Amino acid sequence: MIKRLITVSVVLAFTINVIAQLIKPIVVNVDQPKAEIQPTMWGIFFEDINFAADGGIYAELVKNRSFEFYQPLMGWEQHAQHPASGSLLIVNRSEVDEPNPRFARVTIDGKLGTYYLSNEGFRGMGIRKDMQYRFSVNACQGSRSHVQLRVELVDSTGKTLGSAVIAPDGDVWKNYVVSFRATDTHSKASLNLWFEGIGTIDIDMVSLFPENTWKNRPNGLRSDLVQLLTDLKPGFLRFPGGCIVEGRELNTRYQWKKTIGSIEDRQMTVNRWNTEFVHRLTPDYFQTFGLGFYEYFQLAEDIGAEPLPILNCGMACQFNTAEVVALDKLDPYVQDALDLIEFANGPTDSKWGKIRTEMGHSAPFQLKFLGIGNEQWGPQYFERYVIFEKAIKAKYPDIILVSGTGPSPDGDLFNFASEELKRLHAQLVDEHYYRKPGWFLDNADRYDGYDRNSYKIFAGEYAAHSELNANPENKNNWESALSEAAFMTGLERNADVVYMCSYAPLFAHAKGWQWTPDLIWFDNLQSYGTPNYYVQKLFSNNKGTHVLNMLQEGKPLTGQNGLFASAAWDKNAKEIILKVVNVTNKPRFQSIVLETAKKLSAEATLTILKSERLDEVNTFKDPEHIKPDVQKVTMKGKKAELSVAPYSFSVLKIRQK
Ligand code: AHR
Repeated sequence: MIKRLITVSVVLAFTINVIAQLIKPIVVNVDQPKAEIQPTMWGIFFEDINFAADGGIYAELVKNRSFEFYQPLMGWEQHAQHPASGSLLIVNRSEVDEPNPRFARVTIDGKLGTYYLSNEGFRGMGIRKDMQYRFSVNACQGSRSHVQLRVELVDSTGKTLGSAVIAPDGDVWKNYVVSFRATDTHSKASLNLWFEGIGTIDIDMVSLFPENTWKNRPNGLRSDLVQLLTDLKPGFLRFPGGCIVEGRELNTRYQWKKTIGSIEDRQMTVNRWNTEFVHRLTPDYFQTFGLGFYEYFQLAEDIGAEPLPILNCGMACQFNTAEVVALDKLDPYVQDALDLIEFANGPTDSKWGKIRTEMGHSAPFQLKFLGIGNEQWGPQYFERYVIFEKAIKAKYPDIILVSGTGPSPDGDLFNFASEELKRLHAQLVDEHYYRKPGWFLDNADRYDGYDRNSYKIFAGEYAAHSELNANPENKNNWESALSEAAFMTGLERNADVVYMCSYAPLFAHAKGWQWTPDLIWFDNLQSYGTPNYYVQKLFSNNKGTHVLNMLQEGKPLTGQNGLFASAAWDKNAKEIILKVVNVTNKPRFQSIVLETAKKLSAEATLTILKSERLDEVNTFKDPEHIKPDVQKVTMKGKKAELSVAPYSFSVLKIRQK
């Protein structure tokens, strides 16, 4: 038996050797870098879809905190011991407070029994043991009323997880804040507001935040989710979408001016994803804009990313109403764009720069890019785009404008848009690819023959869909991630024309999503990166500064023998970075020759992301089932002999001496 095994392994070794000799080496031309890789090459696409903002990264735990949802008590429930012990009225004061018209007026008589309101949060509230929670409310007492509020967090059995008391004094609106510690961890907690005493009390902006938000900011963001973004080392942050920019109708489009200033002045609106898909209805999905444009700029700054806001161009979503603003009525939309640039970059004494300063940021946000329209198509887009372009370039010639080719990466609409944008000498053009994994493999050479005199590419939304577009069965499985990695080698190889790339969408709440696949999944307490996340991270964290030629028999690797590859050089770290994707179920023995006059370190770092099966995924129970594994490998002089694992994405880093 042992003899047979030895014979088998000798034959195997011999075969491997013969195969290795038959397969032509890959040659990397190290000393002649081809083109610069833009610092913005790999970035983030953020949209409030799947509870990404409200119920997600925006750490507010109370749903419908200001009673402005279409149904004012959505998320709330009244509990009265006796019908007469308490009641609630929704009062509308829109004539004096347009952005925040409603508040709740509670009348109680403690002698007749108890009365409380409970809030269910976003599919429950995620509460952690020993963490401090900050409750706040705007309140005022009715005349001759004596009502105090007892705030209580409870788990799903009703057990108290923490409580505090607030005693509002007087009939003028004031903000009250109290902080308390949670005694246990629970993922589906709710908040009770007990009204104690006699009389009436008005309440509004009922809010609960964990104190450990990102950078401990009040009204802040969920730390674990921001950390996952930070770890990507993104070159840019695109916000706020996506179709959310467009709105189902113009009336519900994203209007950045309504998302800044004090949070009670931010006029809430419906989230267009709430009833978009009948298979995933989310009628309780609204936008409070607690995460508004100021916070987006701040987030971009925190994570070292260039801000890339996308603005409505006078068109509502063409998959929905497709409303447009008449061309002679476009001025307010164009003015919004000009004012946004001033808000981001203007001096502190300018109208909008002053507002930025008052919000806490006197230094400019250094905005360089601005997107006009999201997924628009047809002549109506270009008629509007040119009006924006003319006005913006006249005042801010250095702002780089992003335009788009619509929802598909090919077909008549795409071709028309592409021709129009060439004619208009567009700068940076957003292309979207939501396709099956096979498309990504077939299109790894998409930009190899691209017209170098044309516009630059922003691969602004892409994801391999294991089933069909917008199908709820799409999975973030290894097949999708691997095919994206193969495609991304093509993006990197063409970094002379591809300037920005972002996977989409970014986030999904496990119980509140509408669209799958998504880069990061979370629930009320946990979060994890998908295999697709790790692919993005490996590209972004190993970006390099220049593209290198990496050829086999004079051709880029776009699937020969199942391999896809690209190479970069990092002039600062003095590193050669090779990325190799094997989409087959067999190892690939491959020698890689580094053509260079410089000496190389004998030891290199090999990071491998792989899975034996294409249908494997990461989960809450096994969040790092597929994650990068780092090894040291020895170079043979200026040659690397790699056994590229089946179904793998490898990054080999070699230091120059
Ligand atoms: O990423 C989800 C959606 O896909 C985006 O909002 C839209 O731009 C595209 O259709």
